[in-house]
Amino acid sequence: MTFNFSEEQLMIQQTAREFAQSEIAPTSIERDINAEFPHVIVKKLGELGFLGMMVSPDYGGAGMDSISYVLAMSEISKVDASVGVILSVNNSLVCWGLENYGSDFIKQKYLIPLAKGEKLGAFALSEPEAGSDATNQVTEAKQEGDFFIINGIKNWITNGKYADYYLVFAQTNREKAHKGITCFLVEKGTEGFDQAKKEDKLGIRSSDTCSLTFTNCKVPRENIIWEEGKGFNFAMNTLNGGRIGIAAQALGIAEACLEASVKYSKQRKAFGTEISNHQAIQFKLADMAVKIEAAKLLTLQAASLKDAHKSYTKESAMAKLYASKIAVECALEAIQIHGGYGYVREYLVERYLRDAKITEIYEGTSEIQRIVIARHLLSENK
Ligand code: CAA
Repeated sequence: MTFNFSEEQLMIQQTAREFAQSEIAPTSIERDINAEFPHVIVKKLGELGFLGMMVSPDYGGAGMDSISYVLAMSEISKVDASVGVILSVNNSLVCWGLENYGSDFIKQKYLIPLAKGEKLGAFALSEPEAGSDATNQVTEAKQEGDFFIINGIKNWITNGKYADYYLVFAQTNREKAHKGITCFLVEKGTEGFDQAKKEDKLGIRSSDTCSLTFTNCKVPRENIIWEEGKGFNFAMNTLNGGRIGIAAQALGIAEACLEASVKYSKQRKAFGTEISNHQAIQFKLADMAVKIEAAKLLTLQAASLKDAHKSYTKESAMAKLYASKIAVECALEAIQIHGGYGYVREYLVERYLRDAKITEIYEGTSEIQRIVIARHLLSENK
């Protein structure tokens, strides 16, 4: 399969590449060390249309396709995967979800500012006891007239501290199990809603991750996304697309590992020659390149199916599973090629490993992706 990118797709890729080099790279090391959120960068990305890439211009978005999204996500993540995940959550989990399942009221009031980059979104599904087992929602929302009262805790929420709008999942009818889960849009500042502990993470340190608490938090019925009881289906459908974004993020990290390794191996000398002349290094570079190409094809395949409005559940799981696996492998090899220099901050590759690891965990662990893929295989072959 080959992908002939359109002029527009290539232009978006180029814009993302230039922005990443000029605006993101200069502060990435410092932000990683200090776990500092890239407020200015996110604002500028919003002005360029990168926060609502796939949203229709009718709702303030850039009206781009998923292929363009993959190209931009991997260019940005190649330079700084923390910025990548901030974009990914806003684009694929929040904006895409609201455009496809939100009421007109929700789209007018919330989607437009999110897509324009004036506001930032977060997706609050996970809980202390509901990570992979996402149906096990303890957070509850009880109806009181035209309102719902939310009580509970959400964990590991990307954009948790700095988002303005949160998609919050809660049980509205426990007897119905996952069919009793409902998604609400909750605005920051709503009484009873607080951001709690900010996590001190191994990687993607410049993105913010925190827990959220809801104590008698009153949300109007009109802020329900899709319908009461449809929250779990909404989360699953949205995550299918989110996984394409994370695959693109992982791909970007893997590409960064290869670029750094090629460059370093042509400079570093050992045994009287550049280490790139040693077959041991050449084999590592070749293996990394093959893995990256395969991950790219899987990710673009999932994106092109999504753009063609065909089923992409299995393909997005495959893309995320594979791209995240090879991102970790490429980062380990990049460190090995860099030797002692690879183990210190100065050469960036140690950060690539720390950043890569999370791509095997969030938006469904690798084990969950295998479950999704296997269930599809088994139901296809009935
Ligand atoms: N796409 C669409 N629908 C799906 C689906 C998918 N991939 N997976 C399950 N569903 C649907 C099923 O069709 C079923 O629908 P109906 O009841 O309408 O028929 C419903 O969901 C329940 O499915 P199951 O009975 O299969 O549920 P389960 O509990 O056995 O397993 C699971 C579901 C696949 C394991 C699911 O819980 C899952 O994906 N878990 C991982 C959750 C996850 O990815 N969390 C990420 C948190 S968000 C995040 O990380 C964002 C961030 O900050 C970066």
